[in-house]
Amino acid sequence: HAAIGEVAAPQAASAPAAGASEPLTVLYGSQTGNAEDIAEQLVAAAEAAGLSAKAIDMLDYKPRDLKKEQNLIICVSTHGEGDPPDNAEELHEFIYGKKAPKLEGVKFSVLAFGDSSYEHFCQTGRDFDTQLEKLGATRVVDRVDLDVDFDEAAEAWIDNVVSRFKDELGGGEPAPAHGNVTVMPGTAAQPAASQWSRKNPFQAELLTNVVLNGRGSDKEVHHIELDTEDSGLSWEPGDSLGIIPSNDPQVVAELIAALGASADEEVTGLDGEVSLEHALTHQYEITTLTRPFIEKYAERAANDELNALLVEEAREQLAAYMDGRFIIDLVEDYPVADMTGADFVRLLRKLPPRLYSIASSHAANPDEIHLTVAAVRYQAHGRDRHGVASIQLADRSEDTKLPIYIDHNKNFKLPSDDDAPIIMIGPGTGIAPFRAFMEEREERGAGGRNWVFFGAQHFRTDFYYQTDWLRWRDDGLLTRMDVAFSRDQADKVYVQHKLREASADVFDWIESGATIYVCGDANAMAADVHDALLDIIAEHANLDAEGAAGYLKNLQKEKRYQRDVY
Ligand code: 2AM
Repeated sequence: HAAIGEVAAPQAASAPAAGASEPLTVLYGSQTGNAEDIAEQLVAAAEAAGLSAKAIDMLDYKPRDLKKEQNLIICVSTHGEGDPPDNAEELHEFIYGKKAPKLEGVKFSVLAFGDSSYEHFCQTGRDFDTQLEKLGATRVVDRVDLDVDFDEAAEAWIDNVVSRFKDELGGGEPAPAHGNVTVMPGTAAQPAASQWSRKNPFQAELLTNVVLNGRGSDKEVHHIELDTEDSGLSWEPGDSLGIIPSNDPQVVAELIAALGASADEEVTGLDGEVSLEHALTHQYEITTLTRPFIEKYAERAANDELNALLVEEAREQLAAYMDGRFIIDLVEDYPVADMTGADFVRLLRKLPPRLYSIASSHAANPDEIHLTVAAVRYQAHGRDRHGVASIQLADRSEDTKLPIYIDHNKNFKLPSDDDAPIIMIGPGTGIAPFRAFMEEREERGAGGRNWVFFGAQHFRTDFYYQTDWLRWRDDGLLTRMDVAFSRDQADKVYVQHKLREASADVFDWIESGATIYVCGDANAMAADVHDALLDIIAEHANLDAEGAAGYLKNLQKEKRYQRDVY
C-alpha cells in the first residue's frame, strides 16, 4: 500500500478519477501525522479503484461543510485523557454543539487511532462515530480502533472501506496507473533514504551515551548519539526517531517462568514459527498492561475476582489494579493452569516502536542523530520496573547497533520564514527538539529571534545542554532564556510561572509573528502552559475567556502554536 500511496497521492488534489459522481471526503486529525498518512493511502486506494477522493486536515476544514458531504471518512487519533488532537478539536466540538447540522444522507466511516494502554483508548474516534450517527448519518463500515501496532489493521480497513464505498457508489473506471512517472532515477543496489522504515529499519551504531545529570540528581537523562553516516536518512527539526526495541532478557525469562513454560517452546510468531523466547524478546509487548489484553486473558483465566474487575462499574478498581503493574503481575495473580506459551502469545499485541524527538539538526550534523532520553526505572508492587526502549538505550554500551527509522512530524516544524521569531517551551526532556531548532537556525544563519523556556528540578544537576545554551546566548542566536528550577527554593517554580512573569513580552512576541512551540509532558505541563497562554492573551489583548480561546485557536490554525507532547 505504501507504493500505491506514493504513486497516486500527488494526483489527489488535481485530477479526481472520472466516473464517480459522489466524491469521498477523508478528514484527518492527529498530532503526529499517522492519521494523515493513512488518509492519503486511503485516497490513493480509492482513486485506484475509480473513486474520486480527497484528504483534508480537519484544521483546514469548515465544520459547516459537513452537511454537504455525501461520503465521509474520519481518521482521527486520541490523546491524554481521551482528548482530540489539536487539529481535530474544533470539528469535535462542533459536532456536539448547538450548530451541529442534521446529517441525513451522509454516509460515513470512522478509523480511530489510539494506544490501548490508556484508559480512554480511541475515545475521540468513538465520539465521532456515535455523534455522526446521532446527527442522522449512516455508517457504511464499522469503526475500527487501531492500537499502536496499526499497519496491517489499517490496510485491511482501507481495503474494506474502498470496496464498500465502491459498492455504494457504483464506482467508475480504475484510475490509470502512473507508476512510470515516479520511477526513481538510478535505482541501484544502494537503498534510497525512504526505504528505511518501521518495517525495514536502519541499523545505527551507538556512538555516545552519557548521563546529562550531575551527581545527586533524581533524574537519569541520557544524551545519545547514533551514527547515521551513509544511511541516506534525512530529517527536519521537529521529527522523531523511531526505535525498534527488544525486551530485556531478564524480563523475558521471568515471564516464561511465571507462565511455567519453556523458552524453547515453538510458537507461532509474527512471521512464522519461532521459540517462545524469541517471540517474547523481539515481537510482542510483554510489559504494559492494557484493558483489551486483560479481557482476553480473563476469558482463559475464568477467575471470578478478575472478571469482577472487568465490569463497567469496576472501572476505577481496574485502573487502580493496572497502575504500576505489568503483564507478569497479572500472570502471577491469576494463573491459568492449562495455558501454553503458544496460547499466551496469541493474546499479546505487537511490540510497537518507541519514538523520541530528535535533538540535533541534519543540516548541522548530517551523519549523527542525537536524542535526549529519560531512563525509566522505578519500583512498584515489590518489583523493579523499567521502560523498554529507554533502558535499552541507557544500558547499551557504545559500539552496538540499534534498528531505527525517521518518524516525520509535519505538525512540529520551524517557520519557513527564517526571520520569524519563535518561543520554545520545553521543560525536562521536552528541550530535545529545541536543541535541533537552534542548531538548524544557527546553520542556516536564520535571523529570527529565539526565546527558550526550560524547566527542571535543580540548576546544578539538571540543566540539560547548558553549555550549548550559553554559547548560543553569547553568540546572540539565543535572544532570551527563562529557566524554572522547581526545587531550588521552597515554592515550586515551573515554566508556566516564568511565562506569566514575562507576559507582556510574550504577548509582544506573539503580536510580532512569533510561533509558540511546546514539547514535553502532556498531562500536567502542556495544559498548564496552555492556560497561562490564554491568560496572557486575555490580559494583553483585552479579551474575555472566549475571545482568548479564539485567539489561541487562530494561532493554531496559522500553525503558530504547535505542540509535541507525550
Ligand atoms: P517537579 O519535578 O519539581 O514537580 C521537568 O521534569 C520539570 O517539570 C521539573 O522541574 C518538574 O518539577 C516540572 N513540572 C512538574 N509538573 C509540572 C507542571 N504541571 N507544569 C510545568 N512543569 C512541571
